[in-house]
Amino acid sequence: MKPVIALTKGRLENQFLTFFQSLDFEIKPLTEKGRKLRVETDQFEFIFAKGVDVTTYVQHGIADLGVVGGDILAEFQPDVYDLFPLPFGQCRMAVAKEKGKQWPEEKKTIASKYTNITKAFFKEKGESVDIIKLEGSVELAPILDLADGIVDIVETGTTLKENGLIVDEEFLHFSARLIANRSALKIKRKTLRPIIDLLNQKEEL
Ligand code: PRP
Repeated sequence: MKPVIALTKGRLENQFLTFFQSLDFEIKPLTEKGRKLRVETDQFEFIFAKGVDVTTYVQHGIADLGVVGGDILAEFQPDVYDLFPLPFGQCRMAVAKEKGKQWPEEKKTIASKYTNITKAFFKEKGESVDIIKLEGSVELAPILDLADGIVDIVETGTTLKENGLIVDEEFLHFSARLIANRSALKIKRKTLRPIIDLLNQKEEL
């Protein structure tokens, strides 16, 4: 059976494909997959899922390996083997708010997809905040007065800028990471080890 790799759909997917191609792996079936969520190449089977679901497929052994943002691992702390950083997907976690607007005197309300990270960050500062969980496009929350600010990942900074927000504080740095199912790593060691070693490139793309 071919090793199964779970890939995070979206921006990490494209960056992974560039990286994978640079290692001379075949990527044509992946670039031509259309809306298919399961694709085979000559060497691997790939499944495409949302970041947090990538960790679920790896944790349950459906996928042997997974490519996921470090932000997802920090937020959800799945029971997977976190192997190493991959040379793409660099981003940082930041508190942001509307440009030119002051924080309120009283308790802040923060919107985020990352409620655990947000809670831990403000707890560490000794600050009590109200947290509102959103599933995406969190930049809308301060603009529409749902929250005073947000905690979110910033990659290029374009989304913040185009929505009139600025970074107030950056506090964590992440990149994409290679994760593995704990037992697959032992049982399928002979098959997986050479792939893992190949993917262990230190150079940033
Ligand atoms: C992420 C993040 C920001 C944006 C940052 O969202 O939540 O919204 O990317 O990237 P930038 O700094 O390069 O603009 P994503 O595109 O993953 O979508 P989502 O908001 O729907 O989760």
